[in-house]
Amino acid sequence: MLYLIGLGLGDKTDITVKGLEIVKRAKRVYLEIYTSILGDDHKELEGFYGRSVIPADREFVEINADEILNGADVDDIAFLVVGDPLGATTHTDLILRAKERKIDYRLVHNASIINACGACGLQLYNFGEVVSIPLWTDSWKPTSYVEKICQNLKANLHTLCLLDIKVKEQSIEAMMKGKKEYLPPTFMSASVASHVASQQLIDSIQELPELCAAVNLSEDSTCVALARVGSESQKIHKCTLKEMIQVDMGPPLHSLIVVGKLHPIEEDMLKLFE
Ligand SMILES: C[S@@+](CC[C@H](N)C(=O)[O-])C[C@H]1O[C@@H](n2cnc3c(N)ncnc32)[C@H](O)[C@@H]1O
Repeated sequence: MLYLIGLGLGDKTDITVKGLEIVKRAKRVYLEIYTSILGDDHKELEGFYGRSVIPADREFVEINADEILNGADVDDIAFLVVGDPLGATTHTDLILRAKERKIDYRLVHNASIINACGACGLQLYNFGEVVSIPLWTDSWKPTSYVEKICQNLKANLHTLCLLDIKVKEQSIEAMMKGKKEYLPPTFMSASVASHVASQQLIDSIQELPELCAAVNLSEDSTCVALARVGSESQKIHKCTLKEMIQVDMGPPLHSLIVVGKLHPIEEDMLKLFE
């Protein structure tokens, strides 16, 4: 059986009892390390589970999916994912490949940023499509995510913006030369942070003035930054986009919410984070 097990958002102790039992008995345990990170490092996880864990980056999962699945028809194989196994991640590919090989699978769910963002007091029912804010480079500055934020605002809905993390990405130069050289993980630097995303969003708004003006999206729009949700050092802050540029939310991971129409109770809740 292939088990896709959610680890939750905070630290090693957020795994469910069900998930931990499977990890302890599984033949092999993989940890997906490219879509999110946990407060605890690899060694701490191994110590807590009492067994070795194989780190699986994007290349490993995409190219070696068959290796992960080998033997899963007779033994239990665990594939660990930070958050929920299907929360804002694309592990359906592994499931489809397992089914192709007539291997059964089970999901062990856990908290995801998709629902834990409710910690700021905004009601989950009032969110629209989730967007990913890609980190701009000198030559690549997409603004398409702003169109989705505008569509949500038009429908009076909030937008959860996930910030693109790059754990093991090739430089364009290395890619063109076909070299296996990787850039340093960008979530480690302050650059993939809510204040940078706010600045980028303001720049994007200036690129699309008519679209944004139609839904009153501007540097004075209200937003909420969420950092390290689910951990002891969780931080939530509400202010305008313009003010957010000055806010340091501390270490990763960060998300940003562009606030839509507020219910009076949501207004009261957000005051807790001013
Ligand atoms: C691709 S999503 C992975 C979601 C994960 N599988 C889940 O279910 O939560 C990763 C992005 O979600 C956001 N995120 C994940 N965990 C977070 C946390 N604890 N606090 C704030 N943002 C978080 C960050 O923007 C991060 O870059």
